[in-house]
Amino acid sequence: MIIGCSHGTYLAKKIARNLNAQYLPLTVGKFPDNELYIRFNKSPKNKNVVLVQSFYGNINDCVVEVLFAAATARDLGAKKIALAAPHFPYLRQDRRFNPGECISIKALSGLINRHFDKVFIVAPHLHRQAKLSGLFKIPAVNISANNCIADYIKKTIKNPMIVGPDWESHKWAQKVAEQIGCDYLILRKKRHSGRKVKVTSNQKIRIDNKTIVLVDDIISTGNTILEAVKKLRKLGAKNFHCIAVHGIFVENALEKLRKASVRVVTTNTIPNNVSKIDVSKLISKKLI
Ligand code: R5P
Repeated sequence: MIIGCSHGTYLAKKIARNLNAQYLPLTVGKFPDNELYIRFNKSPKNKNVVLVQSFYGNINDCVVEVLFAAATARDLGAKKIALAAPHFPYLRQDRRFNPGECISIKALSGLINRHFDKVFIVAPHLHRQAKLSGLFKIPAVNISANNCIADYIKKTIKNPMIVGPDWESHKWAQKVAEQIGCDYLILRKKRHSGRKVKVTSNQKIRIDNKTIVLVDDIISTGNTILEAVKKLRKLGAKNFHCIAVHGIFVENALEKLRKASVRVVTTNTIPNNVSKIDVSKLISKKLI
């Protein structure tokens, strides 16, 4: 039984269709004082239940919703309960940087461990943990979106040069370039704050007539990509595309990127106007 949570219905429907499984939208409402109301309209008794929820917008409501839904499914007799998260939050704060801080991912994964039997996450932003399994006690599956990004670039962009805006991006930018069989370049980024970054390069760069395709996992404020474009423009690059997995786009990021003549496309882990790359098949395959 594939359950579409409030921020997962668009993908849950596709996943259910791909798997020929029963689809059920979760009823989610709010009381006047903002408390959440959750209801299963069909019984999940003896079913293997997959809750599909992407965590964007009001992330904390999304979290409470899946915890309540999983607890309810368990209460109603579901056999196994999995969480399929196209975009999963709170992965950045994976250690205590200052005394007394909450290690957010540890707190959240503890709750997920308690309520779910398995978790599937598309392109989780892993920092100091090399593997997703290091963050969860239940089986945790990392679903890479590299294949669909490489396919999209192959089909739509001629003569690409893939650029990763920071060293971490080698995990997706370099991998995507290797799959396409084209040149790539990994830049360096120094983050000064949530909004301020500086992008540099320690390599000799030959742009020639290549179309620059920046590949990153997340676009949030867009500043990482804007800074990378600034740097590459100084070196003679003219055509810019940017392909990202999760298009969060806060503070008019998409508008800013358009103004800088960057053509942006993302996957549909978070639905938006440019989420043209579908990840439903990737998720479906892993659920089997
Ligand atoms: C960070 O390391 C990620 O890979 C992205 O580069 C980052 O989240 C992008 O954030 P922003 O768009 O705010 O620069």
